[in-house]
Amino acid sequence: MNIPGSDLKRRVIAEADKIPGWTATHDLQILWELCEKYVKPGGSIVELGTWKGRSTYVLASYCKYIGAICYTIDTFSGCVEPDSYKNKPDNLGSYNEAVVNPNFIDIAKNNLNGLPVLFFKGDSAVIADSLQDNSFDLCFIDGDHNHPRVDSDIKNFLKKVKVGGCLSGHDLCNPEGDVFEALNSVIGSNYKDMIAYDDTGVPYAATTIWIHEVKK
Ligand SMILES: C[S@@+](CC[C@H](N)C(=O)[O-])C[C@H]1O[C@@H](n2cnc3c(N)ncnc32)[C@H](O)[C@@H]1O
Repeated sequence: MNIPGSDLKRRVIAEADKIPGWTATHDLQILWELCEKYVKPGGSIVELGTWKGRSTYVLASYCKYIGAICYTIDTFSGCVEPDSYKNKPDNLGSYNEAVVNPNFIDIAKNNLNGLPVLFFKGDSAVIADSLQDNSFDLCFIDGDHNHPRVDSDIKNFLKKVKVGGCLSGHDLCNPEGDVFEALNSVIGSNYKDMIAYDDTGVPYAATTIWIHEVKK
């Protein structure tokens, strides 16, 4: 699939695609489009769940292009895994690489070199307290996908987004997580799941990204 839109958008997504991670290419496309719609020059984005910087690369590249800044939050040491992950041979789950490498953050720093990124290492619930309310144009939640942490991320970061901005997240219908239930319990049905469109306006992929526009 050719990514629709500008050369810059295509180049950024092609570069992000080289970084290993969990965000599908059509989801990267949606992230760029959310930036185009919501992020203003001088504005800011906050992301929960950096991993190696795949989704961050797209968000931060847009920030560089218009003169904004991207905050990204991660423990950089994994998190509690769903029970289904625990059957994996090493019993550490899919975040094993981050669990065993004390310098895991350096992988993301290296991948995001030259981009306007502020790294926050720690638990998103704790870091939320240090961030100003009503201050971000866009928030993308892709941290812990399980109860009760995904519920508190949605609650905590809803407050961080400006009126007119957008709260969004990943893995809406991923059976490994509780995102769908958390979203419904915190903001009801007041969200939209995103579809990727090609250059002619024809939908070509359902994505797992949800968005909620913040109103007064
Ligand atoms: C699915 S990965 C993020 C994938 C990334 N967005 C990408 O494009 O590849 C989820 C990340 O959330 C982080 N994480 C999980 N729980 C967290 C928490 N409570 N606070 C901060 N980060 C957390 C994990 O360490 C992991 O790196």
